[in-house]
This record gives sequence, structure tokens and C-alpha cells, in this order.
Amino acid sequence: MVSFPQDVIQRFLKSEKIVVLTGAGISAESGISTLQGLGSHWEKMDPMKLATPDAFAQDPKTVWEWYEARRRQVASAEPNEGHEVLAWMEEFFPDVTLITQNVDRLHQRAGSRNPIELHGSLWMVRCVKGCGEWEDRHELMNLPPKCPHCGSLLRPGVVWFGEGLPEEGWAKAEKAAQECDAFLIVGTSALVHPAAALPEAPTRKGKLVIEINPEETPLSKSVTLSIRAKAGEVLRELRNVLEKKGS
Ligand code: OAD
Ligand code: ZN
Repeated sequence: MVSFPQDVIQRFLKSEKIVVLTGAGISAESGISTLQGLGSHWEKMDPMKLATPDAFAQDPKTVWEWYEARRRQVASAEPNEGHEVLAWMEEFFPDVTLITQNVDRLHQRAGSRNPIELHGSLWMVRCVKGCGEWEDRHELMNLPPKCPHCGSLLRPGVVWFGEGLPEEGWAKAEKAAQECDAFLIVGTSALVHPAAALPEAPTRKGKLVIEINPEETPLSKSVTLSIRAKAGEVLRELRNVLEKKGS
């Protein structure tokens, strides 16, 4: 059973601006993991060899087959209690900014209004020649898909290794991290920058910074409280305590 120190709950309740940064761990309890469960031959593949501009240039069909397998996996998954509590927080607190590294859009399906998707989304496709980017949820039969406007290749609307983050989203995320009263980090290994550097500003300013992760990360020693447990159970308990104290 997870328990929160009184002073942490009091500081949380007094916070106006909350920032939440999530990683793949928040979707783990929905059965979404980077490679496991996608089908045996994908388990041997290395994301570093698939999620890159070079891999796509060399073999767009294989890259798309991997993304389509992940799109189908996500389509059949459901948001879990962790996603739902984060969406509830947007009703409970006056100002919550959700920043995610995930591309599965389970936060939106759980009711989060406007997550900042630092790494894009599995459901977005983009013309390589620049005709634009749009949401496409149906099963892509002929891979690689072609742009309906110019016939060029469509690519997944996700950020690949070696590519920059969406500028507008990153600027919003940085500003929110600078101005927040409390920062919650859920389910990220905190290895991929610049996202992993977002908690630095609130930490430096002595703000409340809480990490939820069954494993230790490079952030664990510098945060106010690092809870070594799964997102679902911790966020469920956090909601119970906040609702009781906040009423
Ligand atoms: P990782 O797979 O690197 O880390 C997932 C984290 O979630 C780990 O630290 C786990 O301990 C933790 N975890 C596992 N189950 C959990 C649970 N039930 N509750 C809470 N935490 C749990 O995923 P990310 O940190 O999101 O980038 O990786 C960041 C980026 O690296 C990804 O967006 C992707 C990847 O390469 C790109 O695709 C550009
Ligand atoms: Zn086009």
C-alpha cells in the first residue's frame, strides 16, 4: 500500500500549476510496451534500427510494418487507471499541463484535454514532400502508404532518433516546467533528452517534484519524493487522498 507524507499532500493541495511528464511506463498497465507483444519477429528488432530517418529511407515498407503493428496494438488497448487519474487531475487542479513522450494517445482516450506530445503520435501521418500532416486511424493496407495529394511516401508522424522535437510543443513544455508549483514524473526512464531535463528547473527552484517508477532512474536522487511503485496503484491512492483532504 502506497502512503504519501502529509507535507507532500499539503504542498500538492496548495499547488496551482501542476506539470506532469509521462513516459512508456504509464501505458505499461494497458499492455503497451515498446517491443514485447507485437509479434515474435518484431521482438528481435531494435527500435534504434527502425525509428530513424535512415531506416525509413532504406526500407520504408519494413518501418511501416513495425508502426502498423504498433498502431494495431494500441487500437486494441484501453487507457488504464493511471491515465484516468491524470485526466481527473485536470478537473481537480486549476492548471495542469500534461507532457508526454508517448505516441499512443491513450491520454486523450482517458479524457486528458490537450497533452503536449513531444514525440508525435502513431496516429499522425505526414507527407515526406510537405503536403501536410493528418490523423489517420484506419488500418493501412498497402504499405508504405502514399500521399493522396502528390503520390509521395507518407511517414509516421512521430519523432525519430536524431530528429528535433516539435518546436511549439517543446517551447510550451519548457515554459510550463519553469512556472510550475509541482512536477509529477510518471513512468519514464529519464534517459532521452531533452524531455528528461524538464524537471531540472522546478528541482532547482525547490518546487515539489515527485517521481513514480518501479525502478530507480537518474532523477530519483534529486526529486522531493521518488515512489518505487507502479503508476496505476500510486495514482489511484493519490486521487483518494487528494479527494479526501481537498473536500
Ligand atoms: P522507457 O521504456 O525508456 O522507460 C519506461 C519506464 O517506465 C522505465 O523506467 C520503467 O521502469 C517504467 N515503468 C514500467 N512499468 C511501469 C508502471 N507500471 N508504472 C510506472 N512506471 C513503469 O520509456 P520512456 O522513458 O518513455 O523515444 O522513453 C523515452 C523515449 O525513449 C520514448 O519516447 C522513445 C524511446 O526511445 C522516441 O521514440 C524518440
Ligand atoms: Zn504529398
